[in-house]
Amino acid sequence: MNVPDIIIAIDGYSSTGKSTFAKLAANAFSFLYLDSGAMYRGVTLYALEHGMTSKDNTIDAAAIVGALADIDVTFRSTPNGSFTYLGERCIEDDIRTLEVSSFVSPVSAIPEVRKYVDARLHALAEGGKVVMDGRDIGTTVFPNAHLKIFMTAGLEVRARRRYDEMIAKGQTPSFEDVVKNLQDRDYYDSHREVSPLTRAADAFVLDNSAMTLDEELIWLRGLIQGRFGILE
Ligand code: DC
Repeated sequence: MNVPDIIIAIDGYSSTGKSTFAKLAANAFSFLYLDSGAMYRGVTLYALEHGMTSKDNTIDAAAIVGALADIDVTFRSTPNGSFTYLGERCIEDDIRTLEVSSFVSPVSAIPEVRKYVDARLHALAEGGKVVMDGRDIGTTVFPNAHLKIFMTAGLEVRARRRYDEMIAKGQTPSFEDVVKNLQDRDYYDSHREVSPLTRAADAFVLDNSAMTLDEELIWLRGLIQGRFGILE
């Protein structure tokens, strides 16, 4: 299918399969995939490794803001996909731990951190042909995105997906902790002051609780055909 040079914004709750779906779409249409959550996770990893977080789940926001000029989170494309880097170090696995997940919501609520990530996303998305996923892409980062999708799925389904993903990576979380982390992040992400997670009025809702990836892609193709008048 000949998809025009558009920006596709995919937002939604944690572990709804946004990144898997976004990668699949990017691959199908030869688009660039940008994972905005990975940027927030990269900043959070830096904060964790530089003593800017505490055991009682608090963060040193001033220190994180002060360090932003030294934090270089980028993406590198390879034939095997896109990987997140902190400077010269690949952090793709290190940013997916429960420890990073437990600090990423407060870190991403810092206005200066959001500005830092937004600026990087804008620079990377120039020219279109981009699929981007996150929490506020269709509402704040790219309010004029040509196609907006809001993803959702049941809590148990999401927790099972995240749990299986972590086990596959050799981590050993308890299922209850994964459920609790998702609930906490759902609440935090949708109640924070800056850019809370919310569905853009013009976003199409995709509840993939009982859908296969193939079905999700068929749904997206249908949406694009209808929206852009592509007869194929
Ligand atoms: O998609 P993810 O779970 O990797 O995102 C990690 C966190 O980053 C998520 O809990 C909230 C934050 N985030 C955000 O605030 N805005 C975005 N556009 C993407 C992620």
